[in-house]
Order: sequence, then C-alpha cells, then structure tokens
Amino acid sequence: MTECGARVVAADSDSAGLDLLAERLVDMPGEVRVATTDVTDPSQVQAAVAVAVGAWGGLDVAFANAGISLAPGLAHHGGQLAGTDPDRWRRVLAVNLEGDCRCQAGRRPVRRRT
Ligand SMILES: NC(=O)c1ccc[n+]([C@@H]2O[C@H](COP(=O)([O-])OP(=O)(O)OC[C@H]3O[C@@H](n4cnc5c(N)ncnc54)[C@H](O)[C@@H]3O)[C@@H](O)[C@H]2O)c1
Repeated sequence: MTECGARVVAADSDSAGLDLLAERLVDMPGEVRVATTDVTDPSQVQAAVAVAVGAWGGLDVAFANAGISLAPGLAHHGGQLAGTDPDRWRRVLAVNLEGDCRCQAGRRPVRRRT
C-alpha cells in the first residue's frame, strides 16, 4: 500500500516488528506511522485509529488481520480440538474474531467521505 502512495497506520502488538517495518518502508512513496496495539483492548484500537485521524484527518480503509494460532502444528493433527487449553481457545477468539470486529467497528465513525 505504501508502495502505491498510501498513508498507512501499521498497528500490531509486536512493537519491535513495527519498528523494523517502519525502517523497511522509509523510502516508499507513501507514508507509514506505527501504533503498538493489542486488538483485544478497545482503547488501544481507538488510539490506533486516532493516529490516522490526527495525522491525516480520517481513515478510509481498515485491513484487520491480526491473528494467532490455536496451537503450533494443529493443522498437521487433523485440526483436533480435543485437549486444547480453554484459555488459549478464548484468546484465539478474542484476537482473531473479536479483534477483527473491533477494528472494523472502530474505523466506522471516522471513515472519510470522498
Ligand atoms: N498466512 C496464511 O496462509 C494463513 C492461512 C489461514 C489462516 N491464517 C490465519 O490468519 C492469521 C494471520 O496470519 P498471518 O500469516 O498474517 O500471521 P502473522 O503471524 O504473519 O501475522 C499476524 C500478526 O498479528 C499480530 N498479532 C497477534 N496478536 C495480536 C494482538 N492481540 N493485537 C495486535 N496484533 C496481534 C502478530 O504480532 C503478527 O504481526 C492467523 O490467525 C493465521 O492462523 C493464515
């Protein structure tokens, strides 16, 4: 997206990864800002959206793809859920399902009209 000139807020819980990303994109035609964000925390999602609003006056698109796996190698065991730690199951739902919805909902009130 930055290669095509887009102005992007990269939001992720991995702040070291975000720093590396910002370094890699520094020469792109677009612009990138980073926001360390846990998508399970509504206030952190709102803060990430606020970075875009503060810098550029709004947010046109949200690409919500934060995700974690249920367990390493689960697919190689036929996707069996038996024995899965319930806390891990809830965490996967909180990140992969609720986090996605939260990001889309957080974007809606500030979407720019073009
Ligand atoms: N890549 C594939 O082919 C593929 C296929 C099917 C499903 N998936 C699923 O899609 C999801 C994303 O896949 P990917 O390959 O892009 O994974 P990835 O690990 O490359 O990227 C996921 C990103 O989400 C971030 N993240 C994790 N928890 C977070 C949180 N609470 N808040 C904010 N950021 C968080 C991670 O730091 C990471 O940068 C995963 O759940 C994966 O299981 C991926």
